[in-house]
Amino acid sequence: MAHADDVLSQAPLFEALNEEDATALRGDVTKVDLARGERLFTEGDDGDKLYIILKGKIKLTRAALDGRENLLSVHGPGEMFGELSLFDPRPRTASATAVTDTSLAALAHDSVRSWLATRPDVAMHLLAALAQRLRRINDVKADLVFTDVPGRVAKALLDLAERFGVPQQEGIQVNHDLTQEELAQLVGASRETVNKALADFVSRGWIQLSAKSVLVTDAERLRRRAR
Ligand code: CMP
Repeated sequence: MAHADDVLSQAPLFEALNEEDATALRGDVTKVDLARGERLFTEGDDGDKLYIILKGKIKLTRAALDGRENLLSVHGPGEMFGELSLFDPRPRTASATAVTDTSLAALAHDSVRSWLATRPDVAMHLLAALAQRLRRINDVKADLVFTDVPGRVAKALLDLAERFGVPQQEGIQVNHDLTQEELAQLVGASRETVNKALADFVSRGWIQLSAKSVLVTDAERLRRRAR
């Protein structure tokens, strides 16, 4: 596992900094540890910090009035969240909850703002991270309109494999740490329909399922189904 300092230096905010500046910014970081299932903040809260994941996974969710949850995304080491309320000081747009035991580096928005004021290259890196997020959201939105549930399940599995997968002899081992309910929330479909698609992929020999993990044994066929 990568050392926490290495993870931090690859995060969008730190990537653009030279050694000296990165060391100075590290001085502003506080560490936050969360146990699995613990909530960091809730949609609608005031937010004054952004976070970079050092270890573990965070899910970002929004709740409907009837209590149903939409899982916007799952983030792992090196990824950043909580920056929207930095650029646009309004309440948090989503809730953040630890999916596994998780360590975070927290940076106060005020301290990031003063860095950005004098470092256009750092601002460019943050803008690039925001642009990537917008592209992803456009893809997800198009899939919700144009792609059937099995196609979306295939895409979600490939996306999780790309972020969290470890290549092994039999395939790509993806320890996503999500329950079946959370997987369904990520795909934006009912648990029953998502389970049916997963069972179909298993019977075709494309994946093997275990609790909170999947072994992708035929990524190519999964990719074709995702189109
Ligand atoms: P903020 O609104 O401060 O707090 C919640 C954070 O979740 C938000 O900043 C973003 O960093 C992140 N976020 C919100 N919506 C999405 C999304 N659709 N995809 C990925 N991350 C998101």
